Amino acid sequence: MANVSVLRLDLGGGCAPGNKRFKLRDNLIEARSRGARCLISFGGAWSNHLHALAATGHELGMKTVGVVRGELSAPPTPTLQDALDWGMELLPVSRTEYRQRHQSDYQRSLLSRYSDSYLIPEGGANAAGVQGCVAIGQAIRDCTDISSRQVVLPVGTGATLAGVALGLGRGYEVVGVSALKGADDLAQRVTQSLTPGEHLEAASWQILHEHHCGGFARTSAGLREFMLEFESVQGIPLEPVYTGKTLYAVYQLLRSGQWDSQRPLLVIHTGGLQGRRGYPWLEGLLGEQ
Ligand SMILES: Cc1ncc(COP(=O)(O)O)c(C=O)c1O
Repeated sequence: MANVSVLRLDLGGGCAPGNKRFKLRDNLIEARSRGARCLISFGGAWSNHLHALAATGHELGMKTVGVVRGELSAPPTPTLQDALDWGMELLPVSRTEYRQRHQSDYQRSLLSRYSDSYLIPEGGANAAGVQGCVAIGQAIRDCTDISSRQVVLPVGTGATLAGVALGLGRGYEVVGVSALKGADDLAQRVTQSLTPGEHLEAASWQILHEHHCGGFARTSAGLREFMLEFESVQGIPLEPVYTGKTLYAVYQLLRSGQWDSQRPLLVIHTGGLQGRRGYPWLEGLLGEQ
């Protein structure tokens, strides 16, 4: 019998559930301190990040601009339709142009297009995003009900993992499950997002690269079967891009005996449930329409 608990961040955060409210929190503080009235960021047609940003901007009365990878479909995905409904201006760009999103010249040209604007990188993955996620690790460490020293979470950019590892501190172990195939630079990105001093204080961490189920946002028959079974038995909704793959990885590692099933394990549910709408085979589960 495995000893696995799930930290349901998906249940909190209001319009920016899961890890989103943490990654946006310090970015919003920074944007406000600079007097920004417009928030610009990047994402794909199903981006949880753009979805949360649009909702947050709407709530705070701030303009939001979403630079979207590729053409908009007609009709737009439910994710982008929500963003439009919340007043986000969508700027669809070619995949070639989207590749420039990290370049400072490109970012400057975007910032100059919108007055009083503040730019948040794709996925909220900057120093402020990492700093916001420190609170997740601290909350786990400070919670007397949680005995687990091993924490598992999904990884996209690695910002959440970096913040959680720093917040947990030494004595804990963080295992990230990459949602992407062949993202060999992830460990480097995490390393670069922490200062040498922070590395000494942070929990030990590693990223697993073999559980992407075919690539980003792809699914395998095994993943689909696992998610349907997990949801019906546990009553916890997952989505296939991040949380489904992470829990499937945990299941496989425990089942194969590679992980000790006696050891208490805490899995962080990072939200992203709006993205379920992209997977018709999940419809109708758990009381959804
Ligand atoms: C639901 C969900 N979980 C996990 C992640 C991965 O977080 P990070 O990019 O900080 O590694 C994301 C992406 O931001 C996400 O939307």
